[in-house]
Amino acid sequence: MKPKIYAHRGASNYAPENTMPAFQLAYNMKTDGIETDVQLTKDNVPVLIHDEHVNRTTNSIGYIRDLTYHELKQLDAGSWFSPKFKGTTIPTLEELLTWIKDKSIYLNIELKNNKIDYKYIEAIVYEQIKAYQLINRTTISTFNPNSVKRMAAHTNFRELALLTSKRIRNPIQFVKELGANALHVKYNLVNPSMVTLAQQQHVKLRIFTVNRPARIIRSIKYGVDGIFTDVPDVALYYKHLMLGKQQ
Ligand code: G3P
Ligand code: CA
Repeated sequence: MKPKIYAHRGASNYAPENTMPAFQLAYNMKTDGIETDVQLTKDNVPVLIHDEHVNRTTNSIGYIRDLTYHELKQLDAGSWFSPKFKGTTIPTLEELLTWIKDKSIYLNIELKNNKIDYKYIEAIVYEQIKAYQLINRTTISTFNPNSVKRMAAHTNFRELALLTSKRIRNPIQFVKELGANALHVKYNLVNPSMVTLAQQQHVKLRIFTVNRPARIIRSIKYGVDGIFTDVPDVALYYKHLMLGKQQ
């Protein structure tokens, strides 16, 4: 049932973002899906971290692209959030795919290639998701329109989304021109006519990042396909309250 609730970077209000504890917690909360961010290490391993550098969310500094997988795995990605999570590491995409394989929830993988256009990131991520047979419940998204075009041309992702936090002219038409079939848009840019047009054009429309109850309620009323939230428990509570429990 719409909207699907996606735990943004896992249940990131309660556990360090983009870590296995945050994903597990979201799953325990019965989230519909999980959203995460992918960057590439120096040796081309896809890892789950939002920023291009490790400064904010680990005990070290430096760019992901300058660190090898082995170097990155030594870092503590939990203590910045709470001492309770000391020793938590940055997960690889493969760790997440292994974990999610037997869980019937959706996955949104955001390629973080709008600031650093990592070479081959699309192909590397596509091959891993295909190998885990997770294409059918995965949406791939990026803020980089050129990357969307490349994926439309060279991969068979079932759902390909353009992300935008800026107002663009005719966004639904733009998405279709790129070869995508979903638009992930910042909360303040959504309006009822965008929702209607997206439905008419068979473009999935999802909103980020919706945390406040009033905004969650409004998003559910809009009838969008998905909501990205740091508080999946709160969003699920309102979804069930407003729409009932049947999924
Ligand atoms: O995928 C939706 C949202 O995560 C995009 O923004 O900056 O939180 O990755 P950001
Ligand atoms: Ca993201």
